[in-house]
Amino acid sequence: MDDGAVSRAATAEAGAAPPLLAARGVSKAYGGVHAVEDVTLEFPAGTVTAVVGDNGAGKTTLIKILAGVIQPDEGHLEVDGRAVRFPTPAAARAIGIETVHQDLSLADHRDVVENLFIGREVARGSGPMGLLDKRRMQQETIRVLDELNVMIPSVRQQVRRLSGGQRQAIAIGRAVHWGSRILIMDEPMAALGLQEAKRVSELVAALAARGLTQIIVSHNLDHVFRLSTRIAVMRLGRLAGLRETERTNHEEIVRMVAGLASAPAAESRHGAAAG
Ligand SMILES: Nc1ncnc2c1ncn2[C@@H]1O[C@H](COP(=O)(O)OP(=O)(O)O)[C@@H](O)[C@H]1O
Ligand SMILES: [Mg+2]
Repeated sequence: MDDGAVSRAATAEAGAAPPLLAARGVSKAYGGVHAVEDVTLEFPAGTVTAVVGDNGAGKTTLIKILAGVIQPDEGHLEVDGRAVRFPTPAAARAIGIETVHQDLSLADHRDVVENLFIGREVARGSGPMGLLDKRRMQQETIRVLDELNVMIPSVRQQVRRLSGGQRQAIAIGRAVHWGSRILIMDEPMAALGLQEAKRVSELVAALAARGLTQIIVSHNLDHVFRLSTRIAVMRLGRLAGLRETERTNHEEIVRMVAGLASAPAAESRHGAAAG
């Protein structure tokens, strides 16, 4: 008999679809530094997972593994329950995983339209940017930004002239435009003022309401608790814990980030350690 078929049937009966994306035992070392160490983490469809942790905890390295920017030394990724390899970011993008990296990867001296379509012209089979293509791309850019409620004076403006929040919004807009399945963002609010951070968090909430699966690295626990459905805590390269956002609180997450035991038994263990 086919054991695989039996287990698949059992899974279907239990109503548990495989997670949209999963990391299984992924590790990545740089010299002696274990940037990411044996991390297993599932990202079910429709969830918004916040990834938190101190500087150097391995958040960005994990994101880069999920995005195909770097390859894990060990472990693998799964999409819809199937093992996959993303040898390049393009491979991740090809199945609908878009990532807004910490540096945004915008071309500062290009305008908003060019930034939305950069590197995609060939994929769309439209050749070098001709006049007709340009008009079509401009209309598409305006549509995308309108839809996301992003206000930019002109889509023909060079992105270096825009504010941090506008630049962030364009990077997100580009990712949303091309990424059909998962949006990954590394510190999307970090460099922004209060108002701009608020706009970006509204954008995240709107995308979540549409059911878009998101993974968001953030330092800001207020944003994390407002926007996420679950919180993954990284510490020293390892996954220190995963919590449903509704079933945890700031204090527990802060303790997990700091490496303090979060279970109720924490006090007695602390007492034993001190003795
Ligand atoms: N390209 C690299 N070369 C060497 N060390 C790196 C590199 N990228 C990350 N690291 C190290 O790996 C650890 C995790 O870094 P990172 O993933 O950027 O953490 P975080 O995003 O949580 O701040 C840190 O100690 C960092 O110095
Ligand atoms: Mg980082």
